Amino acid sequence: MNDVARRIIRSAERIVSFSGAGLSAESGVPTFRDPQTGGLWKDFDPTRLASPQGFAADPDLVTEWYAWRRRTIAEAQPNPAHTALAARGDITHVTQNVDDLLRRAGAQHVIELHGTIARDRCHAACGHEEAVDLADPPGLRACPACGDHLRPDVVWFGETLPAEAWEAAERACVSCEAMLVVGTSAAVYPAAGLIALCKSAGAKIIIVNTQPSEASDLADVELLGKAGEIVPELLQERH
Ligand code: OAD
Repeated sequence: MNDVARRIIRSAERIVSFSGAGLSAESGVPTFRDPQTGGLWKDFDPTRLASPQGFAADPDLVTEWYAWRRRTIAEAQPNPAHTALAARGDITHVTQNVDDLLRRAGAQHVIELHGTIARDRCHAACGHEEAVDLADPPGLRACPACGDHLRPDVVWFGETLPAEAWEAAERACVSCEAMLVVGTSAAVYPAAGLIALCKSAGAKIIIVNTQPSEASDLADVELLGKAGEIVPELLQERH
């Protein structure tokens, strides 16, 4: 294991993890962008499946696609990277992932920047929301409060990030001493901007990814390899 990375982790009092789809890849949850396989956005059109316009045009199609993703996530288990992150109760986890694998691994402080696939909410934003069974996801249905459609409580392209989550993430980023960036292409903003925010506030940046990402230039240390192998090794014994 890289000594510089270990030293950064050991000496930091406040650590933020910032994760993306690569964190859950070894659990069998597909990523969005992948030079080898292409990822979800090679085979599926995000404008049709992950935007308010796509949902308005064909809500059944979008609901069906999310049902497929929900079943995939229900069958997945947290991998050693989730488990190692979750075991560190002193780390604030800022994630772009809508899966619930960090929580299922037992992580305490999880900030979900892009919402969660484990919940539906009213598309008209009347305030109604309800938990869904990922293993047995519901089809398209009406909001019991206002009659509009229910939809996954995730952030779609063109939508604003949940304000509370974003503010909590910003607070964590400006006050941490180290950020562990795991499995993100760092291609989607504003989330990816948190890495530069952390760096400009003086934190050290450690990146774990199978390949260079758009954040590589910001890294103090870049560890190339699988999250499930590198993260547990990096986080083992604190002092
Ligand atoms: P991406 O699919 O864009 O990137 C996944 C990253 O994980 C890539 O850089 C891979 O190289 C890396 N990776 C793959 N397997 C890995 C492994 N086993 N260990 C470590 N790294 C690995 O996913 P995100 O960066 O999360 O947004 O994408 C950001 C956002 O784009 C998502 O939250 C989603 C998507 O559109 C919304 O749905 C709003």
